[in-house]
Amino acid sequence: MNVKKPADSYTMMTELVLPNDTNVFGNLMGGRLMYWMDIAAAIAAAKHCNAPVVTASVDNISFENPIKLGNVVHIEANVTRAFSTSMEVHLKVWGEDLTQQYKYKSNEAYYTFVALDPNRKPRQVPKLEPVTEEDQRLFDGALRRRQLRLILGGKMKPDDAAELKALFIKE
Ligand SMILES: CC(C)(COP(=O)(O)OP(=O)(O)OC[C@H]1O[C@@H](n2cnc3c(N)ncnc32)[C@H](O)[C@@H]1OP(=O)(O)O)[C@@H](O)C(=O)NCCC(=O)NCCS
Repeated sequence: MNVKKPADSYTMMTELVLPNDTNVFGNLMGGRLMYWMDIAAAIAAAKHCNAPVVTASVDNISFENPIKLGNVVHIEANVTRAFSTSMEVHLKVWGEDLTQQYKYKSNEAYYTFVALDPNRKPRQVPKLEPVTEEDQRLFDGALRRRQLRLILGGKMKPDDAAELKALFIKE
C-alpha cells in the first residue's frame, strides 16, 4: 500500500453564507457549518485512502467568531495521521468579508473517518508520512487525541492510554 503525505489529502472548500444558512442573528448556523466541515473532511479522508469513508467521530468544536450573512466560508482539511482503518482529519475554518476585505478565523476541529470495504467492514488505509515540522506536530498529537476520543467513546480503557497518561502522570 502506498505511503501518503498530508498534502495528498489537502482539500479546500469555499461556500457563500446565504439567508437560508443563518440563525435569527444573521450568523451562519453551527449545524450548517458542521455539515460543510463533514463533507470537506470526508473528501480529504477519501483522497488519502481512495475508498468510501464514514464519519466515526467529531472532537469538540468551539465557535470563536460568528460568520456573517453574505460572507465567504473557507474550510481547509487534510489527514494528519492514519492508523489501521481510521484517519484523523484536521480542519481550519475562516470567514471572509469580501467588501471590507478582511479574513477572520472561525474555528478548528478534528474529525475521524473509517474506510469501508464493499461489505461495509473497516478496511486498511495507507500510512501517512509527515513532511513539514507542522505535519510532525499534528502527527504526534494525533495519537493522544485518538486515545482521548476512544476513551470518551467507550472503546478504550484509560489504563491503556499510555501516551495520554504520560502527559499528566510523571512516574
Ligand atoms: C465507525 C465504524 C465503521 C467503526 O466500526 P466498528 O465495527 O466499531 O469497528 P472497530 O471497532 O473495528 O473500529 C474500526 C476503526 O474505527 C475506529 N473507531 C471506532 N469508534 C471510534 C470513535 N468513536 N472515534 C474514533 N475512532 C473510532 C477504531 O479505532 C478503529 O480504527 P483503527 O482500525 O484505525 O484502529 C462503525 O461504528 C460505524 O459504521 N459507525 C457509523 C458511521 C456513520 O454512519 N457515520 C455517520 C454518517 S457517514
